Amino acid sequence: MLRLFLFICEALLLLTTVVGDIYLHNPRGSNNRLDEQTRERANANNLFDSQNNDRGGYNVGSLYYYQGSTLSVEWTNQHSCQNPNCHCEIILQYMCDFRVRDGATTQTIPANRAQCENYDCDMDRRYRMNENYAYYSECSVRERNKGLFTADQNLNNRNTARNTRQNPAGTRRGYECPEERDYYPYWHPSPWVDIAVMTDDVSRCSYYKAESQNVKEKWACVLPMADMEALNGKIILPNNKEGCEAYQFPKNVNASSKPEWKSFPAHGVPPPDCRETEYSRDNHLGNGYGGHPNMYNWTIPSYLEHEHCVLRVRYNISTSDYPSWATNASSNNKVNMADKFGFSSESAAKDRGYVFKNNPVVTVFGNLTLNLRLAIDTAQFGRVFQDRSHTFAVRKRPDWLQDTAIYNLNVRGKRGNIVQVYPAVEYDFVPNNLEVASGDYVHIQWTGSNTNPNNNDGQGLAGTDRSNIVLLGSQVYPEGIENAKSRGINYGHYGVNYPMSIDNATFLSLSEEDALTLAFLDPGQFRGEVSELDDAGTYFNLPPRKVTQTGTYHYMSTRNNNFSNRDQKGRVTVTSVAYKTQAIGKMGGTIALQNGIAKVTVDEDTFDSLKIVRLERLSAEEGEQVLHEANRKLDEGDSYASGFVFIYPDELIGDQKDKAFTLEMKLDKDSNNVEVYYAATDLSVWSKVEARIQDGKATIQARSGGVWVARQHTNVGMIVGIVIACVVVIAVLAGTIFYFARNPGKWQAVRTNCRNAKRSMHSHV
Ligand SMILES: *[C@@H]1O[C@H](CO)[C@@H](O)[C@H](O)[C@H]1NC(C)=O
Ligand SMILES: *[C@@H]1O[C@H](CO)[C@@H](O)[C@H](O)[C@H]1NC(C)=O
Ligand SMILES: *[C@@H]1O[C@H](CO)[C@@H](O)[C@H](O)[C@H]1NC(C)=O
Ligand SMILES: *[C@@H]1O[C@H](CO)[C@@H](O)[C@H](O)[C@H]1NC(C)=O
Ligand SMILES: *[C@@H]1O[C@H](CO)[C@@H](O)[C@H](O)[C@H]1NC(C)=O
Ligand SMILES: *[C@@H]1O[C@H](CO)[C@@H](O)[C@H](O)[C@H]1NC(C)=O
Ligand SMILES: *[C@@H]1O[C@H](CO)[C@@H](O)[C@H](O)[C@H]1NC(C)=O
Repeated sequence: MLRLFLFICEALLLLTTVVGDIYLHNPRGSNNRLDEQTRERANANNLFDSQNNDRGGYNVGSLYYYQGSTLSVEWTNQHSCQNPNCHCEIILQYMCDFRVRDGATTQTIPANRAQCENYDCDMDRRYRMNENYAYYSECSVRERNKGLFTADQNLNNRNTARNTRQNPAGTRRGYECPEERDYYPYWHPSPWVDIAVMTDDVSRCSYYKAESQNVKEKWACVLPMADMEALNGKIILPNNKEGCEAYQFPKNVNASSKPEWKSFPAHGVPPPDCRETEYSRDNHLGNGYGGHPNMYNWTIPSYLEHEHCVLRVRYNISTSDYPSWATNASSNNKVNMADKFGFSSESAAKDRGYVFKNNPVVTVFGNLTLNLRLAIDTAQFGRVFQDRSHTFAVRKRPDWLQDTAIYNLNVRGKRGNIVQVYPAVEYDFVPNNLEVASGDYVHIQWTGSNTNPNNNDGQGLAGTDRSNIVLLGSQVYPEGIENAKSRGINYGHYGVNYPMSIDNATFLSLSEEDALTLAFLDPGQFRGEVSELDDAGTYFNLPPRKVTQTGTYHYMSTRNNNFSNRDQKGRVTVTSVAYKTQAIGKMGGTIALQNGIAKVTVDEDTFDSLKIVRLERLSAEEGEQVLHEANRKLDEGDSYASGFVFIYPDELIGDQKDKAFTLEMKLDKDSNNVEVYYAATDLSVWSKVEARIQDGKATIQARSGGVWVARQHTNVGMIVGIVIACVVVIAVLAGTIFYFARNPGKWQAVRTNCRNAKRSMHSHV
């Protein structure tokens, strides 16, 4: 009995202690940290409301990315996502503005202009700033949205957009507007441009896409800046058109003009990407399936060019204790608990303590008078966490980089052991496992800090972050692992801790000069003491390099690879195979390889959950080799009419038996006598599939991943022709014989005619 009691008690606590937290690892998240030499950040209110642990975040450091390059945005979230334990959204946004900056102090930017240089906080570069002064002033005089659910939080008389259920007192963090922070999509203007919304409930995607300020203008009731400033705290401007236009100033207030209901144009960029979140386990700081942090591969917009940008990630979670998206102000102080928890009435629920309020005391067992106090904070049931990067730049591509694929390869983490850095992470490369096609460019770049806590573990000078890259040595005992031809040779091994000593192999087969630069960070650092890179700076950049030699390259940082306790290793695979990887969920999507050689189209509602789909196409020869290596055979047909198209993973559609997605593959030959064959990715059993062959391509309705290849049956036409001709000849002969057998007189007539004809021929001669 007691055990059951404790079990239920534990289960209840698990259900109710919602601790969230989100930490951005690439680009480096600040969590409101600047360059503190302490494990805790100095000022949690520096720039934004993170609601994260004080120990999170990385010290300041900036990178630049090229337009159109791929940046793997990596984070960890503490609770869960795509998991029945809570509802979750992850929202990625960016902001660029010439005033956006990291600042030089951990002090919060003042709200009072008199405390800033030249009375201009926007330009006082001592202070970190993202949102600007005017934005916060508008927020401060704007009436809060009174239709929002505020539970039992006391917001009486606190009626501006600074006051929310999560922040009833309106505590200021930088110039962030609390109402905008807590809600998305926001109904008033915001400087944040949406990148992606990842959600448990993709039925809201069309709503997000339509309401995003990327595409939709927003409105606000505004006064000239000087008035809003002077009247801050004295007036509250309505948050709607009618109210704004009818607004009368209080008697004791002077303003230079009436407020204006003003339009703020859409950002004029495509709506955000919207898909499911990837799965993450709760209370384990967010590693997803396979033990790797979840990530979003952001293609840096090609229309963006700016030296001062920041990235923002928000993590919105709510439990199943109330229907959070459907609950509004009409439920304040009266969330229905009876239905949910099986009581006959709300008053019965209330008698047992089932009330949606702070720290309720509940009677779990009706016949026991023992009560349990639940750790519930209604300001945090339904809660948003946040992290933001330090500033970064997005630059135009130089001429020599036009029309090329560029992948950013960066370093995450900071100095210290797992306990000292937590909830930040130890050093690693991001993406840890990068795959590029031969001919693509890799942009290697990282930054660190010189002001980590001096007693944090690590190699080299205390307090400093440094990294480098050298190719790892090969496994000493024989490996016998040669990759398929398309993937080239395997270089190095994760299990080894000595660098490759062979002088003819370099990381990504870069030039010797580049290999030296990656190892010694020179140029950048010119000589000096570099055995542990102490004399080098925190920032390193090797401009994009074209990689051409196929292979799988395992590499490490010599400095941070103290094998007794931690390593910093990564892998890049360069393949000659054309491929693309993309996350596709319920919302559907397309993956197309260049020049139309293969394309996958998934309609909405075909997949029942998010899949990381990989489409790749091997030439017929490469495919043949893969078959050979796997000891498999495809006997049907006589020659290849296409390359091999692989789609991973095998399992894609799930239980939706009537669904299919479309695969189009280009045929190499004319389309006569072509059949398409399919096997699962283990290549074991091949079978013919129905395909529409038209315009030099085969179109297939597919239900799972696997391999497809078109085969031509040579001379089949001729054989068929001969067979048909034979059948016709035989039929004609048989028919003739049958006819004359039935009509012997006719045969006689033919013979007579022939004789006559012969005779007449003779007479002519
Ligand atoms: C609140 O929600 C109820 C139903 O859940 C709806 O009838 C009502 O119109 C909503 N009120 C506001 C202010 O949105
Ligand atoms: C978070 O979710 C709540 C519903 O639980 C919603 O009202 C709010 O707009 C969301 N906020 C953000 C920032 O996603
Ligand atoms: C409003 O303006 C008038 C004229 O400029 C001035 O006399 C008066 O004191 C002002 N009132 C307030 C409350 O500032
Ligand atoms: C409480 O009620 C339950 C269900 O009616 C019963 O099984 C249990 O024995 C009771 N416990 C006590 C301590 O009376
Ligand atoms: C992002 O890119 C990396 C590196 O190429 C890849 O390993 C990963 O699967 C991709 N993730 C998603 C969600 O697309
Ligand atoms: C490797 O790490 C251990 C544990 O932190 C430390 O004792 C040792 O000195 C380090 N090795 C070097 C070469 O710094
Ligand atoms: C490097 O040189 C060795 C010795 O000549 C040779 O066996 C090896 O294949 C070469 N490796 C590469 C990657 O060229």
